[in-house]
Amino acid sequence: MKHSMMKLASSDRLFVLTGAGISAESGLATFRGSGGLWNGHRVEEVATLEAWDADPELVWRFYSMRRRDALAVEPNAAHIALARIEEKLGDRFYLCTQNVDDLHERGGSRRVHHMHGSLFQSRCVRCDKPFADQSFYETAAALPMCNNCGAPVRPHIVWFGEIPLDLDSIYAPLDRATVLLVVGTSGSVYPAAGFVHIARQRGIRTVYIGPEEPANAEAFSEVILGTATEVLPTLF
Ligand code: APR
Repeated sequence: MKHSMMKLASSDRLFVLTGAGISAESGLATFRGSGGLWNGHRVEEVATLEAWDADPELVWRFYSMRRRDALAVEPNAAHIALARIEEKLGDRFYLCTQNVDDLHERGGSRRVHHMHGSLFQSRCVRCDKPFADQSFYETAAALPMCNNCGAPVRPHIVWFGEIPLDLDSIYAPLDRATVLLVVGTSGSVYPAAGFVHIARQRGIRTVYIGPEEPANAEAFSEVILGTATEVLPTLF
């Protein structure tokens, strides 16, 4: 597979958006790959407020399993490549991830915005304040309750139909970026899938990396077909 190196000038500002594909080679399943099912459930059945209202135990079993899976894997060469480029670019680098795993942080990234929340945080539905949590809640009796007010505690995850976290802090660096690099996302979930349209309207370079074309492929100025670990370490 051939692609040109991405030469960044000292005035460039790089905005990176990642999706489940960047963690695939660490061993974490993507959402829409291989059927996209968990125990026969579609993600929409376990990742919505309706699912939570109907069956919090099922939802917590799903996220407990995802916590177990994430704890069992390591960051890969693509996560590490992004951490290296951040070391060089400093504040001219911004990483926005749709992933809720912590592999970017464990790969050395410092400036990470988790627009869809974090697997290792939970929050009380009433107090609404996220806190660090690595526990597994897998039975009805074990469902967590808030220490302060006794209300149920939910995963700190942005579910379908909910608004991504702190969008303003994403659009500011997106508006200043000179290059948009998107890695391993199917381009089907908005608003993230629309970042490339915003960037294209501003006329900046927009590059996609992944083994297959995303749904919004036509909006990119370049699509590099290859896996994240094949392409990212050789790109800069
Ligand atoms: N390297 C790079 N990309 C890969 C790799 C790889 N090794 N393997 C698979 N991919 C690509 C697939 O081609 C696909 O385009 O990763 C993408 C994964 O797509 P999805 O499963 O749809 O994941 P994502 O785009 O991150 O999902 C967006 O949907 O369910 C919600 O909130 C959840 O954040 C998630 C959002």
